Amino acid sequence: MGEGAGASGTGVSPVEVPGPLSQRKEPQLFDTLAGLKRSHSCGDLRAQDAGAEVVLMGWVQRRRDHGGLIFVDLRDRYGLTQVVFNPEVNPDTHNKAGILRDEFVVAIRGVVNLRPPDMVNPQLGTGEIEVLVEELRLLNFAKTPPFELEDYRVDISEALRLRYRYLDLRRPSVMGHILFRHRAAQVARHYLNAQGFVEVETPILTKSTPEGARDYLVPSRVQPGHFFALPQSPQLFKQLLMISGLDRYYQLCRCFRDEDLRADRQPEFTQIDLEMAFINEEDIYEVVEGLMKALFKELLGVKLVSPFPRLSHQECLDRFGLDRPDPRFGLELKEVTDLARQADFRQFKEVVDQGGIVKALCGPGLARLSRKELDGLVDLAGVYGARGLAWVKMQEQGWQSPLAKFFPEGLKAAFNERLQAQEGDLLLFIADTPQVANTALGQLRLHLGQQEGLIPADTYRLLWVTDFPLLEYDRDEGRYVAMHHPFTSPREEDVPLLETHPEKVRARAYDLVLNGQEIGGGSIRNYRRDLQEKVFKVLSIPPAEAEEKFGFLLEALEYGAPPHGGVAFGFDRLVAILCGARSIREVIAFPKTQKAACPVTKAPSRVEPEQLLELGLRLDK
Ligand code: AMO
Ligand code: AMP
Repeated sequence: MGEGAGASGTGVSPVEVPGPLSQRKEPQLFDTLAGLKRSHSCGDLRAQDAGAEVVLMGWVQRRRDHGGLIFVDLRDRYGLTQVVFNPEVNPDTHNKAGILRDEFVVAIRGVVNLRPPDMVNPQLGTGEIEVLVEELRLLNFAKTPPFELEDYRVDISEALRLRYRYLDLRRPSVMGHILFRHRAAQVARHYLNAQGFVEVETPILTKSTPEGARDYLVPSRVQPGHFFALPQSPQLFKQLLMISGLDRYYQLCRCFRDEDLRADRQPEFTQIDLEMAFINEEDIYEVVEGLMKALFKELLGVKLVSPFPRLSHQECLDRFGLDRPDPRFGLELKEVTDLARQADFRQFKEVVDQGGIVKALCGPGLARLSRKELDGLVDLAGVYGARGLAWVKMQEQGWQSPLAKFFPEGLKAAFNERLQAQEGDLLLFIADTPQVANTALGQLRLHLGQQEGLIPADTYRLLWVTDFPLLEYDRDEGRYVAMHHPFTSPREEDVPLLETHPEKVRARAYDLVLNGQEIGGGSIRNYRRDLQEKVFKVLSIPPAEAEEKFGFLLEALEYGAPPHGGVAFGFDRLVAILCGARSIREVIAFPKTQKAACPVTKAPSRVEPEQLLELGLRLDK
């Protein structure tokens, strides 16, 4: 803990102090607020306030005993103010200050004093002044916190931070994320309100909305054996609101998805969700680009240029291997299947003969990577399912690689030209199914980009991914599944392909990608019942099941549904990127752990047998 661990030894030993104060029961030790009103926050006072009498309230960040004087940094949400206890100003108050410890809650009344020039702290907004305390009220004590609350401590385990999140939030950097998030929400609301959008709350206790994750279920007491599902998104309600004629809807809404967690995924998270009627893709792009421009300008002072680039889903895979490309750096992927099949190299030939592809990337200057580093890359490719990774170092004398002998000089030259390889570069090759080759090489690209410091700081690149396929084939389930969700409209001209070549049907769907992260996605919807039913059919959802699950939507589509579409943003993701946080957990007040548990309340927890009985549930032991 700080320097103020004991008043003894400083020459002043005022009150007989700390046995743990938390064990003291004397109520008279504590003061109340009676008759005292806060005049300023701990971030307010400046040189021009010198001479004013002020009342501040907050937490003791740190207490320093300097012989006769006691200095306390008083902290609240707004900042820090140095308050000074001088025995010459008020000996009783000075005495009392001797018991102050970290995180005690106090109110002080005193006079603002200019600090001597050599004591000015330019790091602090209030650094030109201090408050000479006349009255001190001890409002509450605090146990010694389980970790230091000063911001420079970055080595505290996340488990401990989240267990005591209310203390973690006292740290200005952590609180700053929550305040930033609040401002982001205000900017979004302000912009959307100005565009005529109406915020509507949709039910939390509802029916399953398929967004591709497992549902959280809530049993009904009134109808035993029946369950609500928590919404994975407000998707169907926002479509119903379009049928209602609301025209422009938005909501900062909570969504619930029982899925495996990662740094950018939480079981409950927040979307900026919106939907518009009588529109097409261009209208969505316009509104969303305006929203992003407002957010970046208001929050970061960054001026975005619109329209944002648009890349087809296929182009993303071709160039970056992933459907959420990070265009902030090069290392783009190139397909070299045609060249690879000319080599007398079994591993490539086999893959190509089986319909696979060979993809490559050229890392400028990376021939310097050590054998160990290259082995690391091979392992990483393996994590993403690649059967192998071949490398070539571009040396003065030509290719240096275990593969070199399988490639005649002319072919090497053709590769070099395709990949624009120069001396000192490193070539990486993966031969596999298109899916694996793209994913593994795409991830290697990201890894190298980060490892080699190729990603410029404070750069924001937004782009639209368009022309997604409507469907993808799910081998495990043996059927097509919706790539976005089942309410997405196919392109009009592709509708006839639904029955003949479902895999070729293009969706009217789009994702918004920021610095390689999917921050939003949406689509134009099926607004005619017949088309929606056709889509259910290719998804192998039998009519009876469609009726049971989505009958209310199908019915509503028959009562004059306008053409409509929308989009939803991962608000947590967006805020995390904007404030440079490593994980969305950093921008959520009370996030869940990797095990989808709440570390503060310890939820989920067991319930009483009577509660289960009431719900008609029995646990399978
Ligand atoms: P989608 O499922 O793509 O679309 O979700 C929209 C955005 O929400 C964010 N997101 C998440 N953020 C944190 N934790 C999660 N578990 C999580 N899952 C998704 C992503 C994603 O881009 N109803 C549709 C939208 C529409 O069609 O209008 C939907 O929910 O940033
Ligand atoms: P193997 O004989 O399978 O160990 O392969 C020899 C070398 O060929 C490996 O060390 C890799 O460099 C390369 N290799 C094998 N399979 C592939 C593949 N699918 N894609 C890229 N390189 C491969």
